[in-house]
Amino acid sequence: MRFDILTLFPEMFAGVFEASIIGRARERGHAEIVLHNIRDYAAGKHRVTDDTPFGGGGGMIMKPDPIFNAVEQILGLEIPFEGYGSLAPVGVEKPPIILLTPQGRVFSQAMARELALQPRLMLLCGRYEGIDERVRQYLVTDEISIGDYVLSGGEIPTMVLVDTLIRLIPGVLGDEAATSKDSHSNGLLEYPHYTRPADYRGHPIPEILLSGHHAKLEIWRRQESLARTLARRPDLLAKADLSQADHAFLEN
Ligand code: ADE
Repeated sequence: MRFDILTLFPEMFAGVFEASIIGRARERGHAEIVLHNIRDYAAGKHRVTDDTPFGGGGGMIMKPDPIFNAVEQILGLEIPFEGYGSLAPVGVEKPPIILLTPQGRVFSQAMARELALQPRLMLLCGRYEGIDERVRQYLVTDEISIGDYVLSGGEIPTMVLVDTLIRLIPGVLGDEAATSKDSHSNGLLEYPHYTRPADYRGHPIPEILLSGHHAKLEIWRRQESLARTLARRPDLLAKADLSQADHAFLEN
C-alpha cells in the first residue's frame, strides 16, 4: 500500500515512521510512504502557502494553489474545472484524497478496514485556522477526524491513520490472527492479558489461564470481553455481533 502525505511539516514524521511496526513494514515493502512538502509546490521566491481570510476574522488560511499543484504534479494529471472527483477512474491513477480535519467523519476500525483495501491514498494535513474551501469542494474526496478535539494540524491524525492501516496489511504482523482479536475489531473491547510471573507481588493471575482447558478459556475470554465492554463502552454493545449465549451472559 502506498501513502502520499502532503504536509507543511514533513520533519514531524521521521521518528514515528521509522520505528517498530511501520518501520519494518516499509523495510519489507508492505508499505511505501512518500512525504511531500506543500511548500515545494508554492509559487514565487517566498513560496507562500497561506494568506489572510476574505472577510477578515484573523488567522491564516492555507492557499488552494500549492495544494492543487502538488496533487497535479505528484499524480501527473490536470484537475478539470469540475474537480478531481469528476475525473474518470479509468486509465489514470486516481487515489482517494483524504483531508484530516476535525470536521470529518470520525475514524473507526471499520473505516480503517475499508481504506486498507486501497492500493494508494493521498493524505492532506490541514494547518493554521483552516484551508480554502475550494480544496474541500474540488480536490478532496473524503474528510476524516480522529475524534472530537482539535489538534494543531493534520500531521498527528495522519500518523494515527497510517499506523492503523499498516497493521491491517496482510503480512505486516507476524500473526495473521493478531488483528482479529484487537479491541474494536469484532465490535468489543479485548479481554485482559497476563504474562509471567503467575504471581506478581502477591497478585495471582486468574486460575483458568493455568488450567490447560482450552474451551473453558475461550468462554472466559469472551465473557471478560463482554463484561469489560458493558462496563466501559456500553454504546458498542448495540452494534456488536452477539450470540444467544452472549446475551444471556450480559443479562446476568
Ligand atoms: N486536525 C486538527 N484536529 C483534528 C482532528 N481531531 N482530527 C483530524 N484532523 C485534525
